[in-house]
Amino acid sequence: MADFDVIVIGGGPGGYVCAIRCAQLGLKTACVEGRETLGGTCLNVGCIPSKALLNATHHLHEVHENFEKMGLMGAAPKVDWARMQAYKADVVNGNTKGIEFLFKKNKVTWLKGWGSIPAAGQVKVGDEVHNAKAIVIATGSEPASLPGVTVDEEVVVTSTGALALGKIPKSMVVIGAGVIGLEMGSVYARLGAEVTVVEYLDAITPGIDGEVAKSFQKLLAKQGLKFVLGAAVQGSERTKKGAKVAYKLRKDDSAHEIEADVVLLATGRRPYTAGLGLEALGVAMEPRGQVQIDGHFQTSVKGVYAIGDAVVGPMLAHKAEDEGMAVAEVIAGKHGHVNYDVIPGVIYTTPEVASVGKTEEQLKAEGRAYKVGKFPFMGNARAKAIFQADGFVKLLADKETDRILGCHIIGPGAGDLIHEVCVAMEFGASAQDLALTCHAHPTYSEAVREAALACGDGAIHA
Ligand code: NAI
Repeated sequence: MADFDVIVIGGGPGGYVCAIRCAQLGLKTACVEGRETLGGTCLNVGCIPSKALLNATHHLHEVHENFEKMGLMGAAPKVDWARMQAYKADVVNGNTKGIEFLFKKNKVTWLKGWGSIPAAGQVKVGDEVHNAKAIVIATGSEPASLPGVTVDEEVVVTSTGALALGKIPKSMVVIGAGVIGLEMGSVYARLGAEVTVVEYLDAITPGIDGEVAKSFQKLLAKQGLKFVLGAAVQGSERTKKGAKVAYKLRKDDSAHEIEADVVLLATGRRPYTAGLGLEALGVAMEPRGQVQIDGHFQTSVKGVYAIGDAVVGPMLAHKAEDEGMAVAEVIAGKHGHVNYDVIPGVIYTTPEVASVGKTEEQLKAEGRAYKVGKFPFMGNARAKAIFQADGFVKLLADKETDRILGCHIIGPGAGDLIHEVCVAMEFGASAQDLALTCHAHPTYSEAVREAALACGDGAIHA
C-alpha cells in the first residue's frame, strides 16, 4: 500500500497550493521541502520580500516627492537599513508560517528535506523512501547564469543577494531590464543609489505592450534610473570599489565598461530540477531544460506530474498556483484546467504595470482587426489626487465583435485593476459589457471603464 496518494516535491506557490488542494479533495498528501521554511522562492527570496522593500521605499519616495505638496512639512525620515531588513524578514516570516499553519489545518504532511524520485511511485527524502500513487514535481526555478559573470551574492548578486545587501550601495548596475531588474533597481534608486540598467534589447520589459514599455521607461528615467539599451553584456570583474561590467553596443559593436558598488544579474531564470534523478527515471525534457508534460500535466513517466516554473510557460507564481490546483483535480479524477490566454502579469514598481491577453504588437502580427480604447489617468480624479496621473489604460477589442482581447495598464493600482478585465475575458465579455458596468466614483477603476467606453462611442473624461 502507498504511504501517500500524492507527494508534491517543492513547497513554493505551485507545490504548496497543489498539496492543499489535493488534501481538500480527500487525497492523503505530503509535500517535500528542503528549505527551513515553506513558500519557495516567492515567499522567501522573491515576490514577498521584494514587495516589502518596494513598499518601504515607495513611502520614502512619497515623503521626498509629494509630502510638502500636501502640506506635510518636517524633516524627512532617515533610512535605518537594518530595521528595513527586519521589517522585510517579519513579512516573510508571517507568510511562511502561514503556509505551515495551512498545512496543519489541511492535514498535509511536510516531509523536510530534499526529495528525489528513485523510481516511479517512490520519493526519497534523506534516507527514507516514501511510496505515492502520484508524484508532482514543483521544484521551481533558479537564476540563470551569464557567461563571464561570476555571482558571489555580495558584490555581484542575483535577486536573492539584492534583497539582503549588507548596506545600501551608492551605485548599482543592473544587467537586464526585465521584471527583477526594474523592481530591485527602483528599490535602490529610491534609497539613493545611482542605478544604471544595461539591457540587450532596444526596449525594456520584453513582451510588454510597446506603448506601455516606452511610457514606463520614461517614468523610471524621471525617477533617476539610467538606461543603456541595445547593449550585450560581455562579462564582469571585481574591482576595489565593487565590480565593473563590460558590454558591447549592438549598433556599432563598440566596447564599454561601467563600474558600480554592486552588480545585479537579472537576465532571467531557468528551471530547477537538479538532483531529482529525472534522467535516470527517463523523464523527457524540453530543449530549454523544462520538464515535458502533456495536456494533463503528466510527464513521460506515468504517475509523475510537473507544474510551475519547472515546465513551459511564464515563470509566475500565480501561473504555478493555477497549475497546482488543476493537477490536483486531475489526480483526484476530476477535470483540471488552466486558461493560459488569461494570465495577468504585474510589475510592482510605482507606477505599477499590468497586462493580460494580447498586446497590440501581437494582434498586428496575427493580422487581426482590432480597436484600441485608451484612457489617460490624467482624466481620473483619484489618480490626480495622489500625483499618479502619468499612466493610462489601454483596452484592445475585436473590431467586429467588440470582444476584449487584451488590456495594458500603467498607473496606480494597475496590478489590482487588471483583474476586472481578467474576469471579463473569462466570461468572453465585450468592451461594451465593461463600459455598461457601473464603477464607483472616485476610483482608479473608472479609468478601465473609460478605456472600454473609448472602444465604443468615446470616453467621457478625455
Ligand atoms: P526577464 O526575462 O523578465 O528579463 C531579463 C532581461 O535580461 C531581458 O530584458 C533580456 O533581454 C535581458 N538580457 C538577457 N541577456 C542579456 C545580456 N547579456 N546583456 C544585457 N541584457 C540581457 O528576467 P528576470 O527579470 O530576471 O525575471 C526572471 C523571471 O522571474 C521572469 O520570468 C519574471 O517574470 C519572474 N518575476 C516576476 C515578477 C513579477 O511578476 N512581478 C517579479 C520578479 C520576477
